[in-house]
Amino acid sequence: QTATDGPIGIFDSGFGGLTVARAVMDQLPNEDLIYLGDTARAPYGDQAIADVREFTLECLDHLVSLGVKALVIACNAGSAATLRDARERYRVPVIEVVLPAARRAAAATRNGRVGVICTEVTKTSMAYDDALAVAAGVKVFTAACPKFVPFVEAGVTGGPDLLAAAEDYLTPLQAAEIDTLILGCTHYPLLTGALSMVLGDGVTLVSSADECAKELYAVLAKAALAHDAPRPASRRFLTTGDPQSFSDLGRRLVPDLITDVDQFSGGL
Ligand code: SIN
Repeated sequence: QTATDGPIGIFDSGFGGLTVARAVMDQLPNEDLIYLGDTARAPYGDQAIADVREFTLECLDHLVSLGVKALVIACNAGSAATLRDARERYRVPVIEVVLPAARRAAAATRNGRVGVICTEVTKTSMAYDDALAVAAGVKVFTAACPKFVPFVEAGVTGGPDLLAAAEDYLTPLQAAEIDTLILGCTHYPLLTGALSMVLGDGVTLVSSADECAKELYAVLAKAALAHDAPRPASRRFLTTGDPQSFSDLGRRLVPDLITDVDQFSGGL
């Protein structure tokens, strides 16, 4: 057993984290992955912070018990609710989505006006406001977009209803003259087409999924935990909900990623 052995554990409330898993697979193709989606209790976005925190830590504990070498909290709501606790709780590196996206946005903005779109619980947690508070001259404008996750979880990423919702949510951010928008929910990269159509080329989109994968790459490389040489990598998917539905929707949303899906019910 060497330090590079062991899979990367990726946790999400449901399907949004698959955008992170795909980015991780692109950037770290030699790594084994175990993905756990808490679809039985998703979406997290409209639940209380204390509940989201409890669910997230429970799922992370399970991934740690499976011997992961690093933990990825591929869920903004889960990251926002456990930002401090998770790093103290585990011996393996913990990578989340909020801080990497905030850093990228602070570096990308030209006029210092950064928008954040996210779920209610992430907005209430003020996680992005806190993360961006240290960036001099950056003003944050946050919009909760409660309709987006249900659209994505129903497999709907286009059409007039989605575009109308996007316009409603984004108009106040456009009025605030943001030039950079953090997609502060890992479901939202699946809506990139609609979001950039509404916002146009003047606004840079920052995907918390891509930034999280880059952060994971750097953490593994610096700690000499990455498999640098080509090797066959395994992928395992666990869901607290129905494996067949997870597999069907997951394959539709993020093609070519999902292999077999198993049910995880232990302890929940
Ligand atoms: C949700 O489960 O509602 C949100 C997931 C996220 O915030 O990334």
